Amino acid sequence: MPTVVVFNPKGGSGKTTLSTNLAVALSQQGKTVTLHDLDPQLSSSDWLKTRKEHQQTITLSTNESLTGSDWEVFDTPAGWPIDKLSALATEMQYLIIPVLPSSLDIKVSVRFLMSLNKADLLNGGWKIAMVANRVKRSTISQRTLDAFLHHLQIPFVAQLGDSQNYVKAAERGMGIMDLPTHRVKREQIQWQKLLAWLHG
Ligand SMILES: Nc1ncnc2c1ncn2[C@@H]1O[C@H](COP(=O)(O)OP(=O)(O)OP(=O)(O)O)[C@@H](O)[C@H]1O
Ligand SMILES: [Mg+2]
Repeated sequence: MPTVVVFNPKGGSGKTTLSTNLAVALSQQGKTVTLHDLDPQLSSSDWLKTRKEHQQTITLSTNESLTGSDWEVFDTPAGWPIDKLSALATEMQYLIIPVLPSSLDIKVSVRFLMSLNKADLLNGGWKIAMVANRVKRSTISQRTLDAFLHHLQIPFVAQLGDSQNYVKAAERGMGIMDLPTHRVKREQIQWQKLLAWLHG
């Protein structure tokens, strides 16, 4: 059963947004999904509680134990130490790192990648990808991101735009894949890249 850990110690980078939207996308593919909310702030848990019953079933867990679902998605808290990630490593198949495309966030991410490297977490048996989140077109942040991508060994598999549709969907316990395509076409196309990487 594939296990996906969404991790970046930097607060507000989009871990919960990615985890919840990923859980929706995978459950829409007919898979059972457990969303592990490891954050004491319980944002993923709150999101799931507002999700209506007729929508695809996603099981909630607030611990690390695997539950036997087709997919297990882990939403981790800000400031989570690397050794916690190491403890999950034996079960981890995918590590997704959301990054905001500001120069400050990118600097933090570079340091964080160096500490992952030091902890021998960049070359295990798992696939690692970065996802640029809240990307605005034609901004200085986009140029900073491009420069970062150029030097990076880890692929940036998707760029998710800055969109109020994420906020609106989250308020209703939904994800981008729950919304009609004509309203969120751009967002859904961006998500297809991440899903293709996961299934590739
Ligand atoms: N692509 C996006 N477009 C617009 N808003 C976004 C996007 N991604 C995340 N947000 C908003 O940014 C805020 C932070 O996102 P989120 O909660 O997913 O980050 P986080 O990494 O889980 O934060 P924390 O470290 O506190 O757990 C939320 O209000 C969320 O709705
Ligand atoms: Mg969060």
